[in-house]
Amino acid sequence: MSFNPDNRQLSQIKATVFLICLLPAVRLLWGAYTEDFGADPEEFVQRWTGTWTFNLLLITLCVTPLRAMTQMHWLTRLRRTLGLFCFFYATLHLLSFIGFDHGFAIDEIAKDISKRPFVTVGFAAFLLLIPLAATSNNLAIRKLGGRKWQELHRNIYLISILACVHYFWLSEVSALLWPLAYAVAVAALLGWRVRERKRKAIPVPQIQGVKPLTFFKKKPD
Ligand code: HEM
Repeated sequence: MSFNPDNRQLSQIKATVFLICLLPAVRLLWGAYTEDFGADPEEFVQRWTGTWTFNLLLITLCVTPLRAMTQMHWLTRLRRTLGLFCFFYATLHLLSFIGFDHGFAIDEIAKDISKRPFVTVGFAAFLLLIPLAATSNNLAIRKLGGRKWQELHRNIYLISILACVHYFWLSEVSALLWPLAYAVAVAALLGWRVRERKRKAIPVPQIQGVKPLTFFKKKPD
């Protein structure tokens, strides 16, 4: 039996999710206030924001499979908050890079982005996140239309692959366990989607003697 909250309960759930998503930022503020960032504060902030960008990316990708498995369709209503928080932490992550690593010197930043491949890949992922964040509102959905909006938001799959590459590339060979764990999670979440698309597809009826060009045709929604 699935849980279906009424409007009041859904607002409470949304507010709780919002507050939980704020916790990593609260940790940063608390660390700044108590000066408790460990031996290398800049590295701590950079890693913390990078990790939470990736965590929220994965949590956002979990919404659709979870909804399908539990039939709790209201879960979709949490996706926007999760996605926007992913963008929020990605922005903090980028700011920590341009502020701590390069003191906001534009030419230095540009040089580093083009010189270090893992930075290039991270930056590409960030650029791809911008249109998704900018269109995460009702007006944009109405203006673009559902289909175009969905197509645009499919970029989240590419972003999650770039995030994996970024994480692998920046890690030492002796510390590949976490990047591997994140990559397995991304593979499972994308693999589920591929399987669902195949499951929803129906074979095109074959005319005798004619080789079909398309093997699968999507079921009408
Ligand atoms: C979707 C976007 C991104 C994700 C998911 C992401 C994720 C991560 C993760 C998981 C880490 C490692 C944390 C750890 O070691 O515990 C990291 C580190 C880092 N990222 Fe990103 N990142 C993104 C975008 C960017 C961008 C835009 C830049 C800069 C242009 C960047 C630069 C860095 C740097 C410099 C480090 C630290 C490397 C080190 O410790 O030596 N990342 N990122």
